[in-house]
Amino acid sequence: MTYPLRTIQEDGDAVVVLDQTQLPRETAFVRLTNLEEVAHAIRVMQVRGAPLIGATAAYGVALGLGAAADDARLTHVLEVLGATRPTAVNLHWALARMSAVLAPLAAAARRQAAWREARAIAREDEAANAAIGANGLPALRAIAARKGRVEVMTHCNAGWLATVAHGTAIAPIYAAHAAGIPVHVWVSETRPRNQGLLTAWELRQAGIPHTVIADNAAGLFMMQGKVDCVIVGADRIAANGDTANKVGTYLKALAAQAHEVPFYVAAPVSTIDFACPDGAAIPIEERSVDEFGAIDSKVANPAFDVTPAALIAGIVTERDLRPAHELAGLKPD
Ligand code: MRU
Repeated sequence: MTYPLRTIQEDGDAVVVLDQTQLPRETAFVRLTNLEEVAHAIRVMQVRGAPLIGATAAYGVALGLGAAADDARLTHVLEVLGATRPTAVNLHWALARMSAVLAPLAAAARRQAAWREARAIAREDEAANAAIGANGLPALRAIAARKGRVEVMTHCNAGWLATVAHGTAIAPIYAAHAAGIPVHVWVSETRPRNQGLLTAWELRQAGIPHTVIADNAAGLFMMQGKVDCVIVGADRIAANGDTANKVGTYLKALAAQAHEVPFYVAAPVSTIDFACPDGAAIPIEERSVDEFGAIDSKVANPAFDVTPAALIAGIVTERDLRPAHELAGLKPD
């Protein structure tokens, strides 16, 4: 198997995705053939990561429409997919884009147009993430120029597995490694779903030195001066730069500020929700308590938290790296 793979591939009238619930133990694929299978795959996190969820949902629309999809069917498909996960805005962005393209068309033309648009969304995500790698690289290069190497900390998985290809937060790390910059990555485990182990798996495939740490060890390593910068992905960035990402991100940002470690967010422009004024308006997904295993007490399981823009040194998109409070210029026309 050659890594990285493209995480979502067309296969006749279906799409094939890597089953991320089996990783890193096993590399298994799932063939998604209809609306219910796509909705299930997103809900149980066979596919996960905001950009990949968006692309998968777009293909889900194509798979959910019959040969002739009337308005009622289109609305149903959009509603089912829209209800799968609340925080990752790429899901809702992709569905809105599909709706804008498909709603004006005649029923008989919708299915084919849906495949075309889903393909475009997937291709654009791939290109955007490659550009994020290039736009984040100078920050890592500058650190390496001073110190001879770079120590990066990340949280959750924002590598190629979380996107159609390349990754978001990990894209600049891949770019640095490809440019010959010595880079080591502190990978936090990311309880309760352990997406950090997916990041470690990716970095192993790429031959990039890394160390897995317990989530709660992040502050210690920053205090000890072992971290030059933090780069994380995002599930939704509000118009003012407040950023929702996997729960635990906020604590890393607080520790980074305390120890003067620059804290970057990397995400495509499709992750910026210009209609959302600030972090307080971002819906936070509450996931099943079963993710904690058997515990005989009440459990709360918010999947994301919000890092205020003031703690973010810069946001890297496919357009550039800019301050978190200057996102307005990125708003599409
Ligand atoms: O709940 P998940 O695994 O879908 O979480 C989303 C993420 O992958 C992370 O929050 C990531 O940092 C942002 S998406 C590239």
